Amino acid sequence: MDSAKLELNGETYELPVIVGSENEVGIDISKFRASSGAVTFDPGYGNTGSCQSSITFINGEKGILRYRGYPIEQLATKSDFIETSYLIIYGELPNQQQYDDFKHRLTYHTLIHEDMKRLFENYPKGAHPMAVMSSMATSLSAFYPESDDPEVIELNIIRLIAKFKTLAAFAYKKAIGQPYIYPRNDLDYAADFLHMMFAVPSEPYKVSPLLERALNLLLILHIDHEQNCSASTVRMVGSSQANLFASIGAGVCALWGPLHGGANQAVLEMLEMIRADGGDYQKYMDMAKDKSSGFRLMGFGHRVYKNFDPRAEILKSTVAEVLDEMGKTDPLLDIARNLEKIALEDEYFVQRNLYPNVDFYSGILYRAMGIPVDMFTVMFALGRLPGWIAQWKEMRDDPKMRINRPRQIYTGANARDYVARDDR
Ligand code: CMC
Repeated sequence: MDSAKLELNGETYELPVIVGSENEVGIDISKFRASSGAVTFDPGYGNTGSCQSSITFINGEKGILRYRGYPIEQLATKSDFIETSYLIIYGELPNQQQYDDFKHRLTYHTLIHEDMKRLFENYPKGAHPMAVMSSMATSLSAFYPESDDPEVIELNIIRLIAKFKTLAAFAYKKAIGQPYIYPRNDLDYAADFLHMMFAVPSEPYKVSPLLERALNLLLILHIDHEQNCSASTVRMVGSSQANLFASIGAGVCALWGPLHGGANQAVLEMLEMIRADGGDYQKYMDMAKDKSSGFRLMGFGHRVYKNFDPRAEILKSTVAEVLDEMGKTDPLLDIARNLEKIALEDEYFVQRNLYPNVDFYSGILYRAMGIPVDMFTVMFALGRLPGWIAQWKEMRDDPKMRINRPRQIYTGANARDYVARDDR
């Protein structure tokens, strides 16, 4: 199959067909408007491939997620965040030398410019850390200007991953009024983040290996998810040749929304609400099914996964193990499990293929780790960062890259003459 035919107003148009490495078929309509005058219409881009990409493969019907060909289940159990980040950005698993070198560079770029610290001081009490993180990511471009030199771009990629965790921890410390804790070079990425979050200058802080493992897993599960809202935003902004930091700042903003990364915070708030309401699941199920309520079951449904979200499956069992190992119980976990059971048997949810997504269980794990609710989406951003970078880099390195510029179907007023204000 190398072409498709489309008939419009009695004319037949032959459109080239592109087949991906997993036999995904795409009809190339990029020249269709030039020959027919018509555009294709796909609000929300549910059926539109915006690029060719070799980073992440998802089969939503079968619940498959692979980074650069490697199944998420294997990476989640065998790899760590640094190694998987290398894989996602550079395309191959690193050998020992490459791994050590990457880790070393990420370790020695964690400090932020001292002047940047002053930016934190000016945020009001209670500022959402995603507001802080989006501007901090963009502000990095003021401190580390970009050039077209590939070496500078590569250095900025390292700087961004290394400093992002320092910025995230500083945003948290600022929010709770504690002194900033500086990075430690003897700790691995996840451990260092936990140390900057939870250490206080007055006493020694020992990173729990259990929490370090759990954090590595959470970050790996979030690394990339092909052309999702924030990755597409990063590509969209980057397509104008905006610099890496500005493109990532935009990605942070896109992730913030409750239909995307902000869902993990929204899930926890929903579970709390159900608990405060005496655990009345049915009331919330009914609300979720009633479109006029404006309420959705947060952490349920996905644009691509229509059977199960493999990340949610991994997290569901991990949450139970971590809570067990920590000797903790969480009533919200019981509420989540009950809600999941009811929803999976409910006709409305079954008909629409609505299953728990990654955000349904991640919040309970973050909570068990002591991470406050409004930092949840920052945690998602920390994990997603290497994926955004890989998407940005792939786009920039693509010789066929053009500025992203969709068309529209205009539905407004037809041409009319201007009327002076006193004649209106
Ligand atoms: N609760 C109730 N109904 C829902 C839900 C939900 N969580 N999700 C979808 N539906 C219904 C929706 O009303 C629609 O019904 P109908 O066909 O009768 O109009 C149908 O299911 C299809 O929904 P959609 O909005 O067309 O689906 P979408 O692909 O545009 O949206 C989604 C996907 C994830 C935004 C949506 O399922 C949702 O809002 N979920 C809750 C928020 C959430 O958990 N987001 C995290 C996504 S996973 C993390 C990430 O990658 O960002």
